[in-house]
Amino acid sequence: MVVRGCLVLAAQADGHRVDTVETPNPSRRLKALQDAFVEHNALQCGYCTPGMLMAALELVELHPDAEREEVREWMSGNYCRCTGYHAIVDAVCAVLEQQKAGRFADEPVEARA
Ligand code: FES
Repeated sequence: MVVRGCLVLAAQADGHRVDTVETPNPSRRLKALQDAFVEHNALQCGYCTPGMLMAALELVELHPDAEREEVREWMSGNYCRCTGYHAIVDAVCAVLEQQKAGRFADEPVEARA
């Protein structure tokens, strides 16, 4: 589950696994999203990028058949002041297409709670 880091106390995360965009040994899905953000010019200052990537990762893992409108809705809780959202949505859709083509078939989605 993606949470807003600014609204969750560390004590509330006690006993839970915490992943961030800088988690060592990122999944191939996260690496693909990072690459897609670069390829699609989906970041400029990078301030929003960690939150965008983690939200996108959850979408890719939990909703592999998401269409463009669902991606837009899913990402709507994250604000970007720089790029606009088209490039970000393009990047996420590109990874969803890679996933639909079987790119990550050998990497199961880990259960998140
Ligand atoms: S890249 Fe600057 S706020 Fe999104």
